[in-house]
Amino acid sequence: SPDIPAANSMAHAQQFQTIASSNGGNRAHGRPGYRASADFVKAKLDAAGFQTTLQSFSYQGATGWNLIADWPQGDPNQVVFLGAHLDGVPAGPGVNDNGSGSSAVLETALAVARANAKPTKRLRFGWWGAEELGLIGSKYYVQNLPASERSKINAYLNFDMVGAKGTRTWGVYTDSSTLSAVFTEYFRSKGLPTQGFNIGARSDHASFKSAGIQVSGIASGNDPCYHARCDDINNIESSVMGHATNAAAYAAWKLAGIPEGAAL
Ligand code: PHE
Ligand code: ZN
Ligand code: ZN
Ligand code: ZN
Repeated sequence: SPDIPAANSMAHAQQFQTIASSNGGNRAHGRPGYRASADFVKAKLDAAGFQTTLQSFSYQGATGWNLIADWPQGDPNQVVFLGAHLDGVPAGPGVNDNGSGSSAVLETALAVARANAKPTKRLRFGWWGAEELGLIGSKYYVQNLPASERSKINAYLNFDMVGAKGTRTWGVYTDSSTLSAVFTEYFRSKGLPTQGFNIGARSDHASFKSAGIQVSGIASGNDPCYHARCDDINNIESSVMGHATNAAAYAAWKLAGIPEGAAL
């Protein structure tokens, strides 16, 4: 898999900060900063050659959006899915929660495009709306997928809060031992400790797990600005973002079956 510079994901995170700052300080469901976040990610993916879909839903009197992007290569009947929630709470810009995961997944998708990757399986990427209000967007996506489409999803990997400053030990969701082993393998190869992390239904992986899909994910360490106004660009660390992004790319390459020579 590629060695993605940390600066790439940090540049995306900076864009989420800027979007919040120019839209009343947050990127919450129903607020202009949410729609601007979705437009920003979609434009990057469209320019890179992804097939993108903005799926709208309605919640608490406001329209929300999920953004879905398919890389148009590989077997469409075997889908490897990486996702992150794109909304934040109204209290602050939501850079670690979850500009960090949104940036790591975006940069992984862009790395797939840069490599002009020809995976065996289909790679799909998702950015979820209204997670903070109860996994609303990801539930909507899964519940509106025909059963025949659900059964094509081999794995869903979740990235929620992956940039916390000072992270030493990485959390790896324990839901699937097969999938968590891939993340553990990546972190071990970098000399980084991991611990099993059972986050129950506190993020969007739960929407997929409820539909019988194998899930895992990663999380960085303690966030002193969780759901607070200070969850800004200074609340994340470049090296941590680099590890999160490269862990995501490692899992995408390995699970979708991208030949190693294709890592650019
Ligand atoms: N970030 C989740 C939320 O939005 C909770 C969470 C914490 C998820 C830690 C993963 C890891 O509230
Ligand atoms: Zn949150
Ligand atoms: Zn979150
Ligand atoms: Zn390092």
